[in-house]
Amino acid sequence: MKKILVTGGTGFIGSHTVVILQQSGYEVIVVDNLSNSTMDVLDNITRITGIRPAFEQFDLVDPIRTADFFKRHPDLSGVIHFAAFKAAGESMSKPLEYYRNNVASLINILEGMRDNGIRDIVFSSSCTVYGQPDQLPVTEDAPLKPAWSPYGSTKQICEEILRFSSLLLSVRVISLRYFNPIGAHESALIGELPLGVPNNLIPFITQTAIGKHECLSVYGDDYDTPDGTAIRDYIHVMDLARAHLVAVERMISGKCTSNMEVFNLGTGEGYTVMEVIRSFERVSGVRLNHKIVSRRPGDVEKVWADTRLANDELGWKAERTLDEMVLSAWNWEKALAHKRQIALPENK
Ligand code: UD1
Repeated sequence: MKKILVTGGTGFIGSHTVVILQQSGYEVIVVDNLSNSTMDVLDNITRITGIRPAFEQFDLVDPIRTADFFKRHPDLSGVIHFAAFKAAGESMSKPLEYYRNNVASLINILEGMRDNGIRDIVFSSSCTVYGQPDQLPVTEDAPLKPAWSPYGSTKQICEEILRFSSLLLSVRVISLRYFNPIGAHESALIGELPLGVPNNLIPFITQTAIGKHECLSVYGDDYDTPDGTAIRDYIHVMDLARAHLVAVERMISGKCTSNMEVFNLGTGEGYTVMEVIRSFERVSGVRLNHKIVSRRPGDVEKVWADTRLANDELGWKAERTLDEMVLSAWNWEKALAHKRQIALPENK
């Protein structure tokens, strides 16, 4: 059984990827510091797959702990590195925390791999590296624009560290540039768990509909788009998770065409904020209270992926529609509300 380290495996995309890896016969070890997730996620992964993933709780920013981990696991077939801070807005007030967390952890992991002969790493990158692209759909060879946030900057820097590592060390890299991951596992046992008030569109929509917020603010209706609201390429988290499995298998079976490959992961379709709201209203039957406010600083007008490289090279294609994505997110929100209601009497 091939053994894969999944860093950040209790997080949103990580947990869905652990499920798919286990269901495909991989042994998974999760490392997470639980800074943005909880142990419940491991229980729920176990409910879905019937297998409890091995778990170690520590911070990959710690070089000694990380070196020790790799020394104890020289038999790893590969690493999928999700563990990172991910909120662009928050990174504006905590820039050094973002650099230390996202960059130092990658360096520690690469050192651990180098010192123990582990070759393959799949990296969580983001379409944020493109900024507002000059041409749409955006291809992987589009120029990277100066990042507007420390978060985006860490993704660019990490890709550079990986590029040189792939050239100078015996490390093989697949960097996956996610567009906008949304949705949840069909069981509604795992999903996105934003701490505090969510910044992202879908959790804010579902939380507003469930009654946690009064009204969704739509950031700007004066963009150069059909209805004036900004366009994104939303992708279901399970489609995204499957791409990680495909990437791992590509590496293990020696199919990579170079030591560093980069792929866009999106559907190739862009939707406006208003189209997402309409989709939500359609699948949930709930009318969403929303109002137009001014643009959010740092937001790009429109971005969607050219997915041909991932389709042709990886043989992977996103399958779920926007309605399916939004419905799964809504089912997850309802499951969370149900759990809260059940938990209340027990807590008293
Ligand atoms: C951001 C990051 C991206 C990251 C993603 C998920 C940037 C440029 N992009 O994407 O790298 O992968 O988060 O963490 O930093 N919107 C509203 N009202 C809301 C919330 C959002 O109208 O309450 C709009 C936004 O203006 C945007 C769209 O919805 O047009 C999507 O926003 P969001 O979900 O926050 O994702 P991005 O900002 O695209």
